[in-house]
Amino acid sequence: MSKEYDLVVLGGGPGGYAAAIRAAQLDLQVAIVEKDKLGGTCLHYGCIPSKSLLRSAEVFQQTKKASDFGIEGTENVTLNYEKIQLRKNKTIESLHSGIKALMKKGKIDVFNGTGRILGPSIFSPLPGTISIEYADGNENTMLVPKNIIIATGSKPKTIPGLPIDGEHVLDSSNILNLTELPTSIVIIGAGVIGIEWASMLADFGVSVTVVEYAPQILPSEDKAVANKLEQELQKKGITFIKNVQIKPDTLSINKEIAIEYYDGSNNSNKTLHTEKILMAVGREANTLNIGLENTDIIVNNGAIETNEFYQTKESHIYAIGDCIGGMQLAHVATHEGLIAVEHMAEQSPLPIKYNHVPRCIYSSPEVASVGLTEEQARAEGINVKVGQFPFQANGKALVYGETVGFVKIIADEKTKDLVGVHMVGPHVTNMISEAGLAMVLDATPWEITQSIHPHPSLSEVIGEAALAVDGIQIHG
Ligand code: NAI
Repeated sequence: MSKEYDLVVLGGGPGGYAAAIRAAQLDLQVAIVEKDKLGGTCLHYGCIPSKSLLRSAEVFQQTKKASDFGIEGTENVTLNYEKIQLRKNKTIESLHSGIKALMKKGKIDVFNGTGRILGPSIFSPLPGTISIEYADGNENTMLVPKNIIIATGSKPKTIPGLPIDGEHVLDSSNILNLTELPTSIVIIGAGVIGIEWASMLADFGVSVTVVEYAPQILPSEDKAVANKLEQELQKKGITFIKNVQIKPDTLSINKEIAIEYYDGSNNSNKTLHTEKILMAVGREANTLNIGLENTDIIVNNGAIETNEFYQTKESHIYAIGDCIGGMQLAHVATHEGLIAVEHMAEQSPLPIKYNHVPRCIYSSPEVASVGLTEEQARAEGINVKVGQFPFQANGKALVYGETVGFVKIIADEKTKDLVGVHMVGPHVTNMISEAGLAMVLDATPWEITQSIHPHPSLSEVIGEAALAVDGIQIHG
């Protein structure tokens, strides 16, 4: 069977399915080819399941502290991890059904198989016919599109020579399916995934050690924020070992896992013993076995190369999301997908300014940021003015009983424009959007202060930090 389309999207994650919906809105005939499930890594193996588990960990900790709020009898609460997993799965299923309904609403055809791009063929003189293979061995389907979007995502990386076995050494996907919690875990990598899992597992009562190659946890975040987060995570009992690179020859797996490492701070070899390892050393683009060799598409450092409208070297084939590298975030993939579709429909979309993209880490406390860190701004030769304000001095934070952290605003002394906004504390992943809008509008801290922040609200801390840039904060 062969069928013609205006657009075929390879991959139904948050990049791919959002692109398909936008294309349907623009009256294009669209199909998605997805080999697993609509919603992709984000919905089934990433953002949503991990946030659901983080929420259970947060409720567990909050319930233990309920007596601080005058609610007695909750000091000895226990975990039912099976129920925690069921709740997570229910959330995923509900969102999954929602996406399937959106596909129906947009009259988007969904093919549940593995798509591969063919070279010029009887179907088309250009590369781009998609051949779909099915797991049940059914005859391949051929789709003949005018345009393609490759949105095939990414998969967890490992350290070469140290394979993920799903039993001792886990990655961010298979750790989601543990039926019971380990007593101890070593997490390799203190990036976003490592930190979120460290925070969650420590809140669940697991003994957590995090080993990080860089001198700072969350190496790409502002130093003051990363240091504050580290302090707070240490209070949960997490041990951080920094400036250490784990290599495969330092690991032995028998009944228990032993990891040897060289501790440069006191010039000695040390050994860590643990029940499980979580590998959180980054993700790599899915570019293999999708037929790129049948095209002129360029793959650079493992990621598909595109222009600012996400066209590859084959101008009718676009690529978006994790498979093009860069900021591997679901909200970035979605926005890239919308731009790609609007570009192919000649709608003149604006390219993304990646410096305006908010970054969120859902640990407890949370971290959120947009723009340059203070260290990056100084390295770029910008004379910065910094305002910082603590949640400790905020009424709503005291009411919540969550007073840890601060908002830090960095401005260019010369132009007065915002350079970056960094937050660590309660609900900051919701608050960062104000800073994102301010960056898009090229606002100054003074303009932030002209938007009146309601009282009592956590957002007042943003207004106060903006005033603090000029040293005129009211409550500090
Ligand atoms: P990452 O790149 O954020 O962090 C990896 C860390 O591992 C780095 O700090 C690196 O220095 C360290 N590392 C690498 N090799 C090492 C070794 N041999 N020994 C010790 N440390 C080593 O990658 P991560 O955390 O795996 O996340 C992957 C992607 O997924 C990121 O792009 C992230 O933004 C995205 N993601 C985003 C989330 C969010 O927005 N909340 C949640 C989860 C993932």
